[in-house]
Amino acid sequence: MLRIGALVSGGGTNLQAILDAIDAGIIPNAKVELVISNKKKAFALERASKAGIKTAVIGRKSYESSADFDYALSEALRASSVDLILLAGFMAILGPGFFTHFENKVMNVHPALIPAFSGPGYYGLKVHEAVLATGCKVTGASVHFVTPEVDAGPLILQKAVDVHQDDDAESLQKRVMEEAEWQIYPQAVSLFAQGRLSVHGHHVIISQ
Ligand code: GAR
Repeated sequence: MLRIGALVSGGGTNLQAILDAIDAGIIPNAKVELVISNKKKAFALERASKAGIKTAVIGRKSYESSADFDYALSEALRASSVDLILLAGFMAILGPGFFTHFENKVMNVHPALIPAFSGPGYYGLKVHEAVLATGCKVTGASVHFVTPEVDAGPLILQKAVDVHQDDDAESLQKRVMEEAEWQIYPQAVSLFAQGRLSVHGHHVIISQ
């Protein structure tokens, strides 16, 4: 049984997609053990409670330093013996200390085709606003293993999504979520659960 921990900050639609995929058997032999939010009002916490999952709120402001915050998150996840950590709309940056116990065991979904529109400052709606401001015809989503360098870890899956001429940031965000994020995030977790992902340097190999 793959034990999953999730870090969230907001609406939690990606968390919901993972929970639904576990229920549907698309992600085999897995369970979300713990959901931690850095924001106490995150709707993702309600989704987790409704699914009977243990929740916790760990906010950056309760700690003197980023390193202490990273340590608190990492200890809470270790106490639940998780094998995989999913960043699901988690809007805080994790420092190197967080990864000591979780190398190639932390995944993130980013709402653009990395390396485009990624890195510090590119999160949530800001990503889609930047895509529209640039006049891109195509955008998408990426799932990657997380390393201390923001949005720069090894890519696992990506999916392209068309930009429409009449899009605003909200309509584009919705289409990227529906057509890409909610599909490739559960797929990537399913591949991990089946032991089909291996990391070689900066490349992820998917075995058949
Ligand atoms: C999603 O679009 C996710 O890709 C993005 O925030 C949204 C969270 O929605 N994450 C980032 O921008 C991280 N860099 P959700 O809470 O409904 O899953």
